[in-house]
Amino acid sequence: MSKVTSSTLIKFKKEGKKFTALTAYDASFAGAFDNEGVDVLLVGDSLGMVLQGHDDTLPVTVADIAYHTACVKRGISRALLIADMPFMSYSTPEQTMTNAAMLMQAGANMVKVEGGHWLLESVKMLTERGIPVCAHLGLTPQSVHVFGGFKVQGRDAENAQRILDEAKALQAAGAQLLVVECIPPQLAKAITEALTIPVIGIGAGADTDGQILVMHDVLGISSGYIPRFSKNYLKQTGEIRSAIRAYIDEVANGTFPAEEHTFN
Ligand code: KIV
Repeated sequence: MSKVTSSTLIKFKKEGKKFTALTAYDASFAGAFDNEGVDVLLVGDSLGMVLQGHDDTLPVTVADIAYHTACVKRGISRALLIADMPFMSYSTPEQTMTNAAMLMQAGANMVKVEGGHWLLESVKMLTERGIPVCAHLGLTPQSVHVFGGFKVQGRDAENAQRILDEAKALQAAGAQLLVVECIPPQLAKAITEALTIPVIGIGAGADTDGQILVMHDVLGISSGYIPRFSKNYLKQTGEIRSAIRAYIDEVANGTFPAEEHTFN
């Protein structure tokens, strides 16, 4: 099977073929996800919560992400590999270049950054220097303390319009992929239709081009609770590879996410 690139994902979007993304943090799980056909793997800073046991993603460092990116890279051959830029690792363009380069050299194919208008210059600089960018809007977990908790974003017309405008601006600045997290499905649909780059949703309804989940939620082993927008596929199938296959199939045929997983 040929390697998934940003061109592959644009082709999927044009064909209306829904694609699947999942977080991964080590070679073994990543290898299994890759073999089953997950298209995009993200070394998310969610590792701060699901691997390190923190309450949020803020303590994660560039070295943490680089280490796990290198582990995942060694386990896969097909999926596009995205590495998250952690909290405060991209607060200035110069700092962004240095840290993004570290993650690309660790094996990432693309880096992900959370935020809107303030990031445009960095997105442009990264792209011009050969580093593809995945943007992330909506509930951006690194801003949890600004939001006052893990809250759905874009519920009112003004904020929905701001998120839509930021999505368009990030695409214009060079972003090649966009994650939208915990926003109303109508807004996610409007963003997906307005952009030519693929849009991946989490807690954003069924109308985005792709879906992403945290692997620990899919396998039902997150400490605490499984978020409402996620689904425990291991409970349904009883076996890890079948669980991943079920997730891929349900995204492809549009049965996941269902109404119960969205924030209407
Ligand atoms: O860190 C992460 O795992 C993420 C996904 C939930 C999109 O950003």
